[in-house]
Amino acid sequence: MIILMKKIISFSGKGGVGKSTLLVLMLKYLLEKFKDINILVIDADPDANIGDIIGKEINFKETVGGKMAEFKQKIQKRLIPLDVSKDQIVESEVFDALIEMDQFDILEMGRGEGEGCYCSINNYLKRIIDILAKNYDVVLIDAPAGLEFFARKTGRNVTDLVIVSDPSKMGIHTMKRILEVTKEVNLKFENIWILGNRFPENSIRDILEKEVSTIGKEYIKLLGFIENSDEISRINIIGDNLLNLSIDSKPYKTIKGLFAQIV
Ligand SMILES: Nc1ncnc2c1ncn2[C@@H]1O[C@H](COP(=O)(O)OP(=O)(O)OP(=O)(O)O)[C@@H](O)[C@H]1O
Ligand SMILES: [Mg+2]
Repeated sequence: MIILMKKIISFSGKGGVGKSTLLVLMLKYLLEKFKDINILVIDADPDANIGDIIGKEINFKETVGGKMAEFKQKIQKRLIPLDVSKDQIVESEVFDALIEMDQFDILEMGRGEGEGCYCSINNYLKRIIDILAKNYDVVLIDAPAGLEFFARKTGRNVTDLVIVSDPSKMGIHTMKRILEVTKEVNLKFENIWILGNRFPENSIRDILEKEVSTIGKEYIKLLGFIENSDEISRINIIGDNLLNLSIDSKPYKTIKGLFAQIV
């Protein structure tokens, strides 16, 4: 029997580097490797598209933001006492916002309606992790750019931070910036994994390798590299479910080898 340590894994990195794609492929790997585990996917990225990637339409009403907006309307209509705090609203609505798929659950954060601000919803992300994580073996988080919202000291910590970079100066710059933020707000992770996505199989890889080795922290590790894949592009363009990527495909084999280091 394979024993799984409880993990809370968050993906971050510059826009468009492949965070959501790799999160879904991590999910695929977990479903394949561990038959009966409870997995929660939290989509906290403002340009939410985990649903799109796995062919599941999620409308605003099903999101945490949507549920909270509904709750507030009930307060305004005096259907619920006026003196409930936002924390209480989150606590009562978060279970209702869970979307049950066959083999895993999804929580879509959505936007904070009215306030016009996405970040206000993500202020509750840490609280939500604290409430939900105990019910799951693995929590996968598609995180928005800043990581400050993980800084709340209470409850469960994200165990593994995966920072994705593509082969670009900006990708690597954002990676370094994220590492700085984790220091500034004193975030503790068991592991920080640097993952090079869409890297050609040549000496360009050495550049990221060198960047990571100069950081010189033993908990910050280079996870490895994933090649650019026509199969991934094709699935994306035709709008197919990425979970259907062939287990015999080259990128999936690469990904399996890399993610086995995390779980
Ligand atoms: N290894 C790869 N090979 C080919 N295409 C890829 C690969 N990784 C990601 N892509 C493609 O790159 C695009 C961006 O990927 P994705 O949406 O996962 O990035 P993201 O970091 O989540 O972006 P955002 O910051 O907008 O949320 C998608 O079209 C995806 O299919
Ligand atoms: Mg994304």
